[in-house]
Amino acid sequence: MRTYKIAAMGGDGTGPEVLREGIKVLHVLQEKAGFKCEYTNYDFGGDRYIATGEVLPDSAIEELKKFDAIYLGAIGHPDVKPGILEKGILLRTRFELDQYINLRPVKLYPGVWTPIKDKGPKEIDFVVVRENSAGIYTGCGGTIKKDTPHEVAIQEMVYTRFEVDRCLKYAFEYTKKRNKNNTLTLCGKTNVLTYVFDLWERAFHEMGRKEYPEIKREYAHVDATTMWMVKNPEWFDVIVTGNMFGDIITDLGAMVQGGMGVAAGGNINPEGTSMFEPIGGSAPKYTGKNVINPIACISAGQMMLEHLGEDKAAQMLDKAISDFLGSGTLPGLGVSDIIKAEMSTTKIGDAIAQRVQDM
Ligand code: IPM
Ligand code: MN
Repeated sequence: MRTYKIAAMGGDGTGPEVLREGIKVLHVLQEKAGFKCEYTNYDFGGDRYIATGEVLPDSAIEELKKFDAIYLGAIGHPDVKPGILEKGILLRTRFELDQYINLRPVKLYPGVWTPIKDKGPKEIDFVVVRENSAGIYTGCGGTIKKDTPHEVAIQEMVYTRFEVDRCLKYAFEYTKKRNKNNTLTLCGKTNVLTYVFDLWERAFHEMGRKEYPEIKREYAHVDATTMWMVKNPEWFDVIVTGNMFGDIITDLGAMVQGGMGVAAGGNINPEGTSMFEPIGGSAPKYTGKNVINPIACISAGQMMLEHLGEDKAAQMLDKAISDFLGSGTLPGLGVSDIIKAEMSTTKIGDAIAQRVQDM
């Protein structure tokens, strides 16, 4: 039997609750589709940090590399200074495991409300390929004369040709495989960031011209991209962009697709261990209340299956999520909607698991 070793990292706040539902659904699915996932639990997160002072030990990095995938709940604790856990766990894993792609689909499921007027599932269906290993996120920079009126702070946007090329390669291949409009849009800022995005733009056209002549190439500045995402989301098929811009436009993307309750992403190392997560945070104030929407985490599980090559199971799960959302059981995706519908984190997980079971 095809067996996958999965590191399960619930993390902080409501992370463990949503992860539990994701694993519950995958469990039903594996019986149906004939594969097996073996989970190893890790308790990295705020509570462990507060108790032991340990964020993510070096030995854990080496261990994580041995898994077929990592399934993550959420990172972020109200009693820990911002940045410690995000940098120490999330970004460190992305960097050390060289997960250089952050894949974030923006897909409106039927029955889900979008704030974009007159647009539906047909118009809102694109994917953002965010570079995930470099850019402003490297920590390159520093500060001098701190706490004086002359304090200097520098944080550099760093890209090498190698980093740009490998990201573009993934984006072109993904666009080809997706085979929707065969259009790849580079999102940059060539009018101001004239070094970094000049590099991106040259590399983009060079690779496209030589290796992917069948893929249509478009370019949009990042500010214009946010405008088009709202005004004409149907113009996009696949967007490729740098780390910082990708971070920003995918939060907008999450809102366009109905909210954090459904937004999922994959941190991908095509040659190594990848990590799948709901994009939303740990929502600490709802911890243990059984009211947070687990669909984003279940969707992350769907992306994980696709990544592992379990295409049939991934399609089944996509259909189960789509049918559940289309059924009108939930009036919306937020906490108040879940309470109003007398649903809960576990009930939503059960409902989707049941749909898989009935397939
Ligand atoms: C994300 C998050 C992270 C990022 C934070 C928590 C470091 O916003 O996954 O988009 O900026 O990448
Ligand atoms: Mn973000």
